Amino acid sequence: MITGKYPSLRLRRNRKNNWSRRLVEENNLTPNDFILPIFLIDGKNKKLPIKTMPDVFRYSLDKLSYVVDNAIKKGLPMIALFPSTDKKKKNEFGTEALNEDNLVCRALQIIKKRYKNKIGIMCDVALDPYTSHGHDGILKNSYVLNDETIEILIKQSLLQAEMGCDVLAPSDMMDGRIGEIRKSLDKNGFEMTQILSYAVKYASSFYGPFRDAVGSKGSLKGNKNNYQMDFRNNDEALREVALDIKEGADMVMVKPGLPYLDIIKLVKENFKIPVMAYQVSGEYSILSNGINKGLIDKNVILESLISFKRAGANAIVSYYADRIDEIIE
Ligand code: PBG
Repeated sequence: MITGKYPSLRLRRNRKNNWSRRLVEENNLTPNDFILPIFLIDGKNKKLPIKTMPDVFRYSLDKLSYVVDNAIKKGLPMIALFPSTDKKKKNEFGTEALNEDNLVCRALQIIKKRYKNKIGIMCDVALDPYTSHGHDGILKNSYVLNDETIEILIKQSLLQAEMGCDVLAPSDMMDGRIGEIRKSLDKNGFEMTQILSYAVKYASSFYGPFRDAVGSKGSLKGNKNNYQMDFRNNDEALREVALDIKEGADMVMVKPGLPYLDIIKLVKENFKIPVMAYQVSGEYSILSNGINKGLIDKNVILESLISFKRAGANAIVSYYADRIDEIIE
C-alpha cells in the first residue's frame, strides 16, 4: 500500500494548505447526519432547564412549534420525542404509555398536523418514562418480564404509529420484540412505519442526566443489568443486531456512542445496514461542562461527532443537533 519513502514521500504535503486538507478529507458532517431529541413536559408556556444538561430544556406542547421550526430550518431529517411524565401518572405497570392523551401522543398529533412530512418523528418504545420503578418493563420479583412486556410494547407501538410516529424505536433490549412489533404493525396497516431498533444498548452509567431529564432517576430501583448489555461484550452485540435484522429492523442503534466506537464499526462492517449512534446525555454533559468551565475548547464537539462518522455511523442522535450549524461551520 505504501509506495515511496521519506524524503521523497512527505504526507505533510497534503496537509499544508487549508484547500488541500479540504480536498482530501475523508469524513464530514451535514445537518442530515443528526437527530434531535426533544423532552416534553406537561403544562403551558414552559421551557424548563435540566440541571445536569446545560442548554437542554423540557418544553410544554404549546412551545413545540418553536423547537420543530428550528429543527426544520437547520435541515435536520428527524426529531426524537421523550416525555418527562408527571409522577402522579406513573404506576408499576406503566399504563400511561397506552393513554392516547399522553404527552407523546399529543405531541405527535400536533407536529404531524402542522408539519406533515417535512421532518421525521421517532419515538422510543419502552415503558421506563411511565413506570413508578423506572424500569423499561413490568416487574415480577424485581425481574423485568420479557414476554408480558412485549404485549404492552405492541400496543404502545400501534398507538404511536396511529398518532403519526414515523420511526418506532424499541429501546428496552427485550428479546423478540422487533419481530412481534413488526408483525402487529403489518397486520394493522402500518407496513410502512419504520423500526429503528436500539439493538445494542449497553447498561451504562452515561445515561444519568437523561434519567434526570425524564424524571426517572430518583425512582429507578436497582439497575438495568438483566436486560441492557454488559459493556464487557462485543460478540454479543453482533448477535443482537443479527437477530433484530432477521426480525425486521430497518435500522439499528448503538448506544452510548463515544465509548463504543468499536461496536459501531463492527456492526457497520458486518451488516451494511443503516447504523445510528446515540451520543447520550452523559457524553453531552461531560463535553458541555468541560467547555463551560474552560477546561477544553468547544472544538471537542466537532471532533467527537466526526468520530462517529469515521466509525461508520449514518447518523447521530445528539443534544447538539439544534446547534449543529455553529459546530460544523
Ligand atoms: C429509555 C432510554 C434511555 C435513554 C434513551 N432512551 C435511558 C435508559 O435506558 O435508562 C438514554 C439517553 C441518554 O442518556 O441520552 N429506555
